[in-house]
Amino acid sequence: MTVTCVFGMQWGDEGKGRIVDLLAAESDFVVRYQGGANAGHTVIVGEEKYILHLLPSGVIQPATINIIGNGVVVDPVTLMEEIDGLVERGIDLDGRFFVSDRAHIVLPHHKTMDEALESLRGDDALGTTSRGIGPAYGDKSRRAGMRAADMLQPERYEEMLRANIGAWNAILDKAGLPPIDVAAVMAEMRVMGERLRPYVADTTAMLIDAYAAGRKILAEGAQGFGLDVDHGSYPFVTSSTTGPAGVAAGTGLPPKALDRVIGIAKAYVTRVGAGPFPTQDTGPAGLQMAEQGHEFGTTTGRPRDCGYFDAVLARRAVLTQGVDAVALMKLDCLSGLSEIKLCTAYELDGERVDAPPAWSGDWERCTPVYESYAGWTEDLGGCRRFEDLPEAAQVYVRAVQDVMHTPIEMISVGAERERFIPLPDGVPDEPVPGETVPAQP
Ligand code: IMP
Repeated sequence: MTVTCVFGMQWGDEGKGRIVDLLAAESDFVVRYQGGANAGHTVIVGEEKYILHLLPSGVIQPATINIIGNGVVVDPVTLMEEIDGLVERGIDLDGRFFVSDRAHIVLPHHKTMDEALESLRGDDALGTTSRGIGPAYGDKSRRAGMRAADMLQPERYEEMLRANIGAWNAILDKAGLPPIDVAAVMAEMRVMGERLRPYVADTTAMLIDAYAAGRKILAEGAQGFGLDVDHGSYPFVTSSTTGPAGVAAGTGLPPKALDRVIGIAKAYVTRVGAGPFPTQDTGPAGLQMAEQGHEFGTTTGRPRDCGYFDAVLARRAVLTQGVDAVALMKLDCLSGLSEIKLCTAYELDGERVDAPPAWSGDWERCTPVYESYAGWTEDLGGCRRFEDLPEAAQVYVRAVQDVMHTPIEMISVGAERERFIPLPDGVPDEPVPGETVPAQP
């Protein structure tokens, strides 16, 4: 396998950083292909915890080359803070981190506009991360954006920046808000351009060469399938193509290059921000998931809503994104629930629904059709083989695999690097008798 994509199958926060970190050890390149600093990928190595918003999760592996592809929107301020933070912790990125010269830049006023647009939406606010993502991608689509290459050529971009800010100021003027100061933005971007300079490169050429040479490339998705701008719960989505469908566009690798797709799904579901969430549980079970899973946004600190596994969303992700294998995350966080529900379909106006509705208002009115599974009380942190899991957990995991029609090839049972169960052949068809209740190491 030379090109693998890891992406989230739910509404983000599935634990992608953790899997990318594991796979990065065997990869020559890790490349982010979409999103921006709205992501928050957590990697834990020993006692050390790293939270990455923009840098690819492969930066923690000393020999991996990390790339921010052309499909990402780059906030240079956040990027530099992140680089400085890693350097302080002894992680050197020289010669192994590059930003595409074609990547669009999140300008300071994109963040201001993100917040202004949200407040203008009032009750219909999307609950964005305020990281300027929508305005930056909006500028890209309306062909008014600034790219990393432009930052290196101040004389070229000044005129573009004036035109760009002029358009946003017209909106601010209508909303009765103060205008953006062009000179201040220009001054900041000049400084940022110089800091960015050593990292800016034609990363498409680098990746094409690496692919031709048979080097291993890992494409790291951010957010999740439910937040995909085309397939997610529009308009309660982010502004990019979150799945493997975005890899070719966001890196320059040919679409045919991708030969393995790993979907990441939590054993339950979380969502942060507004939008449909049919399996949300606002009772004690949801609260327990939130507590055991420490479900607070890595980027915004907002508490995440929690609920049961949604196979309607997962199947749609499998079918549209060509998932070869699933990594099921945070199974340990379900310990202690007496009953675990699994949503196999929705019901809307008395009809069974097997695919997410196009209109988010309909999606919101869907009620889940549940199967019910017995819970378990054991701590799963010490399980390293499938047969170490209590039988109830084995039964639940098999049911999740069956409703997705896709093999689960890995189960995570804790945040630390070594806490997972590899399943190269997927979950076995029959329960595997356990030996003893696993002990917490
Ligand atoms: P934006 O990407 O900041 O524009 O936010 C749009 C929607 O996507 C909001 O509901 C956010 O909460 C959600 N979102 C964006 N990034 C992430 C993420 O990394 N994890 C989970 N939700 C996210």
